[in-house]
This record gives sequence, C-alpha cells and structure tokens, in this order.
Amino acid sequence: MKWLVGFLLMLGLWMAPAPVHAAADGAALFEAHCVGCHLNGGNIIRRGKTLKLKALERNGIEGPLEIAMIATEGRGQMSAYGEVLGEEGADAVAEFIWQQAQEGWS
Ligand code: HEC
Repeated sequence: MKWLVGFLLMLGLWMAPAPVHAAADGAALFEAHCVGCHLNGGNIIRRGKTLKLKALERNGIEGPLEIAMIATEGRGQMSAYGEVLGEEGADAVAEFIWQQAQEGWS
C-alpha cells in the first residue's frame, strides 16, 4: 500500500497550487448568509428594505461599496456579517447583489 500513499502525496503536491487563490464566491455566500431574510432579493423583515434596485436607490445605496459596508457593519435590525464574510467575502457578496439588482433578480 506504500505506493498508493506516495502516489496520493504526489498527486496532492501537484494539484495543491491551483485552489489557493480561488476567489470568494458571492452567490454561495449569499446562499449561506443572506438568503434567509433576502430570498429573491426581498426582505422578510422590513418590506421597504429589499435588495431590488428601486429600494436600494430609494435608500441611498448606489453601488456594491455601500452594500459591502452594510453587510460588514449591519444596519438597523440586520446584524453585522463582517466576521463571517471577511473583507473579500463582503465585496464578493456585494458584487453579486448589485449584479442581481441590475438584472431584476430573475
Ligand atoms: C436575519 C435577517 C437578515 C439577514 C440574514 C440579512 N439581512 Fe440584510 N437586512 C435585514 C433587515 C431587517 C434590513 C433592514 C435594515 C434597516 O432597518 O435598515 C436589511 C437590509 C439590508 C440592506 C439594505 C437594503 C435597503 O434597501 O436598504 C442590504 C444591502 C443588506 N441587508 C444586505 C445583506 C447581506 C449582504 C446579507 C448577507 C451577508 C444580509 N443582508 C443578511 C435582514 C437581514
């Protein structure tokens, strides 16, 4: 069986560098942390504070930067997610939301 261990080790070394820089996946982060309250870009707690473009604009949110800030620091009844998302994750999920808002959460 030693050969098998050696083979797997080599395979591991050979494949190791690839996933290291995998970018944070905004869609997956949204599914994991936001969808519970923001299903389809809505808001089950505050009906006027959805992630749809009209609501975002009405509430003074003009781009992914503001969304990332809200995700990180929280706002009103929404708690902060900075710790679970990290900076990169907050940016990625904000980009995802902003893009979905442009496309009408189809
Ligand atoms: C437990 C429910 C809940 C979860 C989970 C949640 N939110 Fe919220 N979110 C809210 C509530 C409530 C508000 C309204 C806050 C207020 O009073 O202004 C809100 C508001 C927002 C807004 C502002 C929307 C607007 O139109 O003003 C953004 C952007 C946002 N959330 C992003 C996120 C992101 C990104 C995540 C995941 C990391 C997330 N939310 C997870 C409840 C939640």
